[in-house]
Formats: sequence, C-alpha cells, structure tokens
Amino acid sequence: MTGQNFGPNLAEVILSISGSKSVEKFIETGTLYGVTARWASQNFEEVVTIEIDRGLLNEAQENTDADNIEFRHGDSAEILSQILPTLNSPATFYLDAHCGYGVEKAKDNFEVSDDIEDINPLLAELEQLSKHSSGEHIIIIDDVIHFLQPPPRPFPPDEFPTIQDIIHAIEDISDSYHVVVFEGHIIAVPQSEKQILIQEIRNIHNPENRSQIQQWVLALWQNIVFPAGRRIYRKLG
Ligand SMILES: C[S@@+](CC[C@H](N)C(=O)[O-])C[C@H]1O[C@@H](n2cnc3c(N)ncnc32)[C@H](O)[C@@H]1O
Repeated sequence: MTGQNFGPNLAEVILSISGSKSVEKFIETGTLYGVTARWASQNFEEVVTIEIDRGLLNEAQENTDADNIEFRHGDSAEILSQILPTLNSPATFYLDAHCGYGVEKAKDNFEVSDDIEDINPLLAELEQLSKHSSGEHIIIIDDVIHFLQPPPRPFPPDEFPTIQDIIHAIEDISDSYHVVVFEGHIIAVPQSEKQILIQEIRNIHNPENRSQIQQWVLALWQNIVFPAGRRIYRKLG
C-alpha cells in the first residue's frame, strides 16, 4: 500500500470504512500526477479523477495502464454535478483540488474567474454533494492545516474557507455525518461507519498494535539506549 498521497495509516482507515460500506467507487478531485488515483485503482473497482489542468491530466493518464480509472478534465464542482446524479451506491470522495502545487498553474492554463472559490473549489464541491446526496457517501478532505489557520498568501483570508465553513457545508449535506480529523485530513462518515472509524483510529494509536519489530526497537530505545545516554550525560556533567 505505497505510492499514495498519504501514509499507510490513513490508507488503512479509508479502506476499512469503504469496505464496511461496500464502496466500489473512489472519486478524487485534483489529479495532479495521478499518484492517489493509481493507488485507488488497486483498491477500488472504479476510480474517477478530475483535474482542471489538461497537461497534468494527460501526464497522469500516460503514467498508468490501469483500465479502471476514468480521467475527467474540467472544474471539479462542475464535473461532480454531472457524476453525482448517476451514482446508485455510496462512493468514497477524496477532495483534494485545493492548495498546493497546481493552483497557480491552473490559473494560467484554464479559464477561471478571479473569484477565489474557483481557485479553491472545496465549498463548491461540498455544495454539489449537498444537492445530489444525503449523507450516504464517505468524504475525505486533504490539507486540513490550510483551513485551521489563516491561508497562505496570495489567498485573501475572508474568501478562503475556514474549518467552520467546511463543517457547516458537511452538515448541509447531512447533519448525521460523524466528522474527525486524522493525519492531516478531515474524514466524514455516515453514522453506520462511525464505530468502525473510531475503532480503526484507536487501533492505530494503540502501541500494542505496533509490529513486533517496532516494539523491539521501542523497547531497545527505552530500556538500553536512553538510560545509557542518561548515565553518560550524568558522568560527564
Ligand atoms: C494538491 S493537488 C492534488 C494531488 C492529488 N490528489 C494526489 O493525491 O496526488 C491539487 C490539484 O488540483 C487541481 N485543481 C485546482 N483547482 C481545481 C479545480 N477547480 N478543479 C479540478 N482540479 C483543480 C490542481 O491543478 C492540482 O493538480
């Protein structure tokens, strides 16, 4: 489980909650080089990935021979408004068409208005989810840090979504979503997946679940290396 845009812990959580809901479709906004789309293609039946920059989309498409990825060019909210009404079962949404590399490039290469929401489409994407669904999908949003603090320049702080805006937008889809932050991402799951999400995260945080090798390294550090260092420090002091 390597190669995706996030660590193995989050990958495990995404797969557990998606598996528990028998999700077959992974829908990503913001393809960039297709790293997460390729990972998803190995773990889901179908993947749709949406990118505003035609050059990046072509590059991502050339980088894979997976036949279960649909590459869609255009603005994420607009494409979501086309895809959502066609879904007949729950999907996992990975919303990542904001911040980071590609935003400035997208401004240069695509006709977007000066409205900052076109540059950060997250609220527009969530609005599409609220128009066309009612809490059955799993939603994962990358880059939580960018919404917990004032945005980096050149984004005007008053026009950049805050964590409050995002939570309200999720509640507009369904107020029964259970929302947590884990490894830099916001995860919103239907009530039916709440317990499995909590359990998964608690298992990951439980030291007893570390692998045998991790436990040995930790024990070596705690019982030998650290006390020896302390003794040497005392002697020198
Ligand atoms: C952070 S990167 C995505 C990383 C990718 N999801 C991954 O996991 O490797 C953000 C991407 O979103 C694209 N993007 C920005 N605004 C967009 C929009 N309105 N619609 C679709 N894609 C957009 C950018 O061009 C950039 O490639």
